[in-house]
Amino acid sequence: MTITNCYEDVTRANAYATLEFANTYYLAYRDLPEILAQHVTGTRAMDFGCGTGRSTRFLQRLGFTVTGVDISEDMLQIARATDPTGDYRLVPDDNLGEFPVGSFDLVLCAFTFDNIPGAMKTKIFRDLAKLLTPAGIIVNLVSSPQIYTHKWASFSTKDFPENAEARSGDVVRIVVTDHKDRRPVEDILSTDASYRVVYRSAGLEIMQMFEPLAKGDEPYSWVNETRIAPWVIYVLAHQAAVG
Ligand SMILES: C[S@@+](CC[C@H](N)C(=O)[O-])C[C@H]1O[C@@H](n2cnc3c(N)ncnc32)[C@H](O)[C@@H]1O
Repeated sequence: MTITNCYEDVTRANAYATLEFANTYYLAYRDLPEILAQHVTGTRAMDFGCGTGRSTRFLQRLGFTVTGVDISEDMLQIARATDPTGDYRLVPDDNLGEFPVGSFDLVLCAFTFDNIPGAMKTKIFRDLAKLLTPAGIIVNLVSSPQIYTHKWASFSTKDFPENAEARSGDVVRIVVTDHKDRRPVEDILSTDASYRVVYRSAGLEIMQMFEPLAKGDEPYSWVNETRIAPWVIYVLAHQAAVG
């Protein structure tokens, strides 16, 4: 399957850079401070798939020393311009060889795996696991399969009824309505069962899993967010550390 990274695109990068933590995205980030406080022991973090740096700056504000990495130079250029003292690196072909083994207490992947094909997922998670300290964790924040078949405060899927027939590994489409670029994002559907196979093959164990719902008292016009979780958050550790 050939899938293009829609974030290797200046127009998309500029639009993405205007997103903050409102609407459906609020739910993606709401619980992370508590989750990280509970599970992470040190302050060295990698933001894998940092994009324009929203998630990197989020980790910095929580006290982490963060290295942001991405495969899109268009996204990284904005990250560096917004945060000139930050550490942002291009990792062509996901070659993570420049980072020492065991050097991160946390690897955050925020939406990064939404458009990475299955076989690549396993290889990348194996490589990321090597970068963790023995007690280190990976937090993998991904779109839930349901995000592609419903309407949301930040997204529309109404033009893609075929998403309902998609199986794990198939391409699905969604439009971000929170920014100006209304071209659909092409993702790869990945079910919870598929992620579990990937984690096991990569030597990782799920410590906790969250499906964040809105409470209803937030200052946003929720559509389905109070009853269907748009995101899934996996907290992952080395199998040996858990077992
Ligand atoms: C939806 S953006 C999320 C950016 C950021 N984490 C945030 O929350 O704002 C996904 C990012 O993952 C990056 N990405 C996609 N595939 C990747 C890969 N194989 N390796 C590294 N980054 C990747 C894209 O270039 C894009 O910048």
